[in-house]
Amino acid sequence: MRNRDEVIISDRELKKQYEYMDRVGAINGRKEYKPLAFVDSYGCQQNEADSEIMQGMLERMGYGFTREESEAEVVLINTCAVREHAEMRVLGNIGALSHHKRRNPKMIIAIGGCMTSQQSMADKLKRSFPYVDIVFSTHQVWRFPELLFRKLTMKKRVFETSFCDGRIAEGLPVVRNDNVNAWVSIMYGCNNFCSYCIVPYVRGRERSRDPEKIIEEIKGLAAEGYKCITLLGQNVNSYGKDLARDITFTKLLYMINDIEGDFKLRFMTSHPKDATRELIDAMASCDKLCKHLHLPVQSGSDRILKEMNRNYTSGDYLKLIEYAKESIPGIVLTSDIIVGFPGETEEDFEDTLRLIEKVGYSALFTFIYSKRPGTPAAEIEDPATDEEKQRRFDRLLKLTNEKSLELHREYIGTVQKVLVEAPGRGENYSLAARTDGGRLVHLNGDLSLVGSFIDVKITDCSPWALFGELA
Ligand code: 5AD
Ligand code: SF4
Repeated sequence: MRNRDEVIISDRELKKQYEYMDRVGAINGRKEYKPLAFVDSYGCQQNEADSEIMQGMLERMGYGFTREESEAEVVLINTCAVREHAEMRVLGNIGALSHHKRRNPKMIIAIGGCMTSQQSMADKLKRSFPYVDIVFSTHQVWRFPELLFRKLTMKKRVFETSFCDGRIAEGLPVVRNDNVNAWVSIMYGCNNFCSYCIVPYVRGRERSRDPEKIIEEIKGLAAEGYKCITLLGQNVNSYGKDLARDITFTKLLYMINDIEGDFKLRFMTSHPKDATRELIDAMASCDKLCKHLHLPVQSGSDRILKEMNRNYTSGDYLKLIEYAKESIPGIVLTSDIIVGFPGETEEDFEDTLRLIEKVGYSALFTFIYSKRPGTPAAEIEDPATDEEKQRRFDRLLKLTNEKSLELHREYIGTVQKVLVEAPGRGENYSLAARTDGGRLVHLNGDLSLVGSFIDVKITDCSPWALFGELA
């Protein structure tokens, strides 16, 4: 177990960052206008949460925010490395920034996140994108004010991409992007080393926040009126294992459920090897916990699960799902699936389809395997062609949509208590809401309902959403 003093960033170190924020703030204070920052986040909610902290620091340094890169003095891109496709998109967008920089040479371009936490990518940015000013890894997020100050005052490019086991910074400012939903990281990093996954290499070892800090943050969010709080971690079921005290994820859930306030609680992501019956029991008995379990299975083939280093079998997984269904009637189940893992045969793929049939997921996040250099799976022979993988992916999608539609049809005619999350994005519906199980509901109603729990009668559905009217 790591010494807690090495994990938690000291008050003295944090104070230094606050001093840097004040120094950058003083530079900006001398300007006759309010400088603007553009912040863009790719990938998972953890990245979104990191971006919200960097937004908090930018705000304290005197920046306002814009959604137009051309107006910004600081452009900050928080990148994702989970799949090659995400990396290519980011590289394309960084490429496009060169035009903005030519027009506005004072613009500072900063790139952080999982992609830049791989040395090869950091080197590529250094070599091929000379107009990028700051490159930093996930471990340096809390030092962003210092990196920006260095760039502003010394003019040299700043590269801080060193890797470490990872630490925890408490008490940094945050600007949240939503008034209804809030993210709360309860732990960082991952120790699982699934053979396809880059995350453990870029986000370091698992480390849990102190429960008191989590409770304090959630109490604050409840008091501010947030209605749905999502607890974040790569594997929330590991919460507390690195703390020398009597705490587990389930115990944490009971503690949070006891916090006063009218809010719902979600969590992601659970790893099936660590998800326990106690977790399901907590979901059944905690009134604030949404009855939705996102439990990524990745594959239905035991041979592939072993190759993936997932440490469970499809049988173990199905047993837990059975228990969840018995304990929580109407529980909504969702999952992640990877198609075309190296060496996956047609038979392995059929196993995945069979498992999906048995479970009955309301939604699946399906991905074609993407080779991540440096991971063990990248070394496994992969005879299947891209066409074969695409065909499997299409079959998977078809089955997923059929199953989702079947489950969504069961809602028609029922009344659901939903949380109105935001104004509707499409043309036909003014509001977007979510059921307790996380199903998206489109409906019409007054915008003042955003942030309220209301009863909605479900009238129609698609594989992706429900449609309803005020009950
Ligand atoms: N290729 C494809 N999908 C991946 N995921 C993680 N790594 C890869 C990869 N190399 C998927 C997994 C995980 C989700 C967040 O992303 O399904 O659960
Ligand atoms: Fe990646 Fe596996 Fe960790 Fe999830 S549990 S972040 S898939 S290594």
